[in-house]
Amino acid sequence: MLEAINAEEKNVATEKQLLVNDFIQLSDLSSAEIHTLLNEALELKKLQKEGKSHPFLSGKVLGMIFEKSSTRTRVSFEVGMLQLGGHAIFLSSKDIQLGRGESISDTAKVLSRYVDGIMIRTFSHESVEELAEHATVPVINGLTDLHHPTQVLADLLTILEHKGKLAGLKLCYIGDGNNNMAHSLMEGAVKVGMDISIASPPGFLPNGKITERAIQMGAETNSSVMITHDPLQAIKDADVIVTDVWTSMGQEDETALRLKAFEGFQVNQELCKHAKADFLFLHCLPAHRGEEVTAEIIDGSHSVVFDEAENRLHAQKAILKFLLS
Ligand code: CP
Ligand code: NVA
Repeated sequence: MLEAINAEEKNVATEKQLLVNDFIQLSDLSSAEIHTLLNEALELKKLQKEGKSHPFLSGKVLGMIFEKSSTRTRVSFEVGMLQLGGHAIFLSSKDIQLGRGESISDTAKVLSRYVDGIMIRTFSHESVEELAEHATVPVINGLTDLHHPTQVLADLLTILEHKGKLAGLKLCYIGDGNNNMAHSLMEGAVKVGMDISIASPPGFLPNGKITERAIQMGAETNSSVMITHDPLQAIKDADVIVTDVWTSMGQEDETALRLKAFEGFQVNQELCKHAKADFLFLHCLPAHRGEEVTAEIIDGSHSVVFDEAENRLHAQKAILKFLLS
């Protein structure tokens, strides 16, 4: 499958180094940097599949702060550090002093004296920016209310592997447009030359500033951004269909309201008939079968959700290798 990847895609990456010191949102990276990370992820995946050791981060330590639950992010970062010869420390905000009111800036300064990088999953996006401002080691965003960039790098890797290209594809996202996945998908898609269409109910459209920035970035890569309330319009001729939970972490009080608001925005067989015949289905997981997606679709032949979950490991190892070595 890896051989199927268009040589053109590989050649897009001209920069061998990342200019950024942190990994906070995809709009901070150039298109070339994103391709550099994707190519590195493919190399690291190959090494791991061949059973070849690759201790590029021997002796390095990643601190991982979690203020929200996680299965994939926690395990893939921890295993990734181990496979790179380093170590990861899980820091639940329930257990560290941050959870008792110690400031983000003091936490950043103290952790920087011990570890070589900090990954954080938190609520407010500003918290990650503040952490990065005060840390003297690289900071990686493991999800905020606004962005989920490590997930979308893995999504791009998955699409590239299955389609052999990224530029020129149409990605359609159906559901909560005002969440971390929708925002990072918008930024990721336009950076690599994909068109993106988002269908969300009134009141759940993507953040205006992020949309505006995506439209501007898209003008440089020939990518279009379409935002609509009509799932049929969004999904028409899509190569890739993505959805996410209707209630993100921290929004549990709104569950009933959201179940009602998102009626008609379920990814199901009927809706998917309007996409290209060979569409891919992605979901960052965890999923709620029967809500945002039917079991028929997520467990069906178009779904690549477990490749996508695996690719968290490979994509993040590429980020870690560039930022921590
Ligand atoms: N997709 C994702 O970030 O999963 P976790 O919440 O399990 O980390
Ligand atoms: N939008 C979801 C993504 C989970 C990985 C949430 O924030 O809960």
